[in-house]
Amino acid sequence: MSFPTVRMRRLRRTAALREMLNQVCLQPSNLIYPIFVEESIKKPVAIASMPGYSRLPIAQVVDEGKQALAQGVKSVLLFGIPAKKDEAGTSAFAKDGVVQKAIRELKKAFGDELVLIGDVCLCEYMSHGHCGIIKDKEVQNDQTLEVLGKVAVSYAESGMDIVAPSAMMDGQVGAIREALDDAGFEQVPIMAYSAKYASGFYGPFREAAESTPKFGNRRSYQMSQGSQQEAMREIELDINEGADIIMVKPALAYLDIIALAKASFNLPIVAYNVSGEYSMVKAAAQNGWIDEKTVTREILTGIKRAGADLIITYHAKDAKSWLNQL
Ligand code: PBG
Repeated sequence: MSFPTVRMRRLRRTAALREMLNQVCLQPSNLIYPIFVEESIKKPVAIASMPGYSRLPIAQVVDEGKQALAQGVKSVLLFGIPAKKDEAGTSAFAKDGVVQKAIRELKKAFGDELVLIGDVCLCEYMSHGHCGIIKDKEVQNDQTLEVLGKVAVSYAESGMDIVAPSAMMDGQVGAIREALDDAGFEQVPIMAYSAKYASGFYGPFREAAESTPKFGNRRSYQMSQGSQQEAMREIELDINEGADIIMVKPALAYLDIIALAKASFNLPIVAYNVSGEYSMVKAAAQNGWIDEKTVTREILTGIKRAGADLIITYHAKDAKSWLNQL
């Protein structure tokens, strides 16, 4: 059967029809809201590369959590900018580290109402800006694992609900699982940045988190963009090492990886709608070239339709007001 018996436009005629047939619902509770918390500031500092976003003092994270909850968003992803950086990433696992302090404040305020997720990486805490220990200009994989384990345990001790290793070291999920279990945190899940590509889309984040490498780049540990196979292997390894949730990052240029992961694995998939993807929308909207709400909904719907169960997005706080207005 075909035209004129078939008319696809019949089911598109009214808003109610379109809504009734919508298959992808964006739920604010499926969005994860990233927060940058900085140790040495007293007032929010606007992030020039991410319009509408600021680095926050520890004293303000509770307000931010309230706003997220008011929008129906149930989880935040914390990034810390410490007062002191060194070559061992010491502030990343300090008892009174910036993220550790922020978690304690948030736990005190919200208990289990808000899910606290911590990015486990060293780049923000290293004077050289790389994600691991450096020797002879090379990131040392196995030495870094030990430090990542310490960071995860220190987060868990402060009350973190989920740890999210993003350093792209081989074996990081297994090392963290073991460290957590040894410390009695066998109930703390791991959200693994499994398929994390080396990407130009992280540019605005690195300005926000002060984590640009001082030399070289991250291509020896983050994935190279031309492969699907490698992503599937990374994911499989992370699952075998005990990952509870796996991530594909960035989202937009890697929707095929999300779809493939969805078809291949039986565990929750989170996609990271990264800083560059956010800032492009903001910049174009500020210039009047696109409509921010329409485009944001379209992007988030696309990521969900590709197969993401959860989306980490800087748009999360705008969620409830306009997310599902088709
Ligand atoms: C830490 C980390 C990065 C991002 C998340 N965790 C930066 C990087 O790998 O350079 C990027 C997030 C974004 O761009 O929104 N390693």
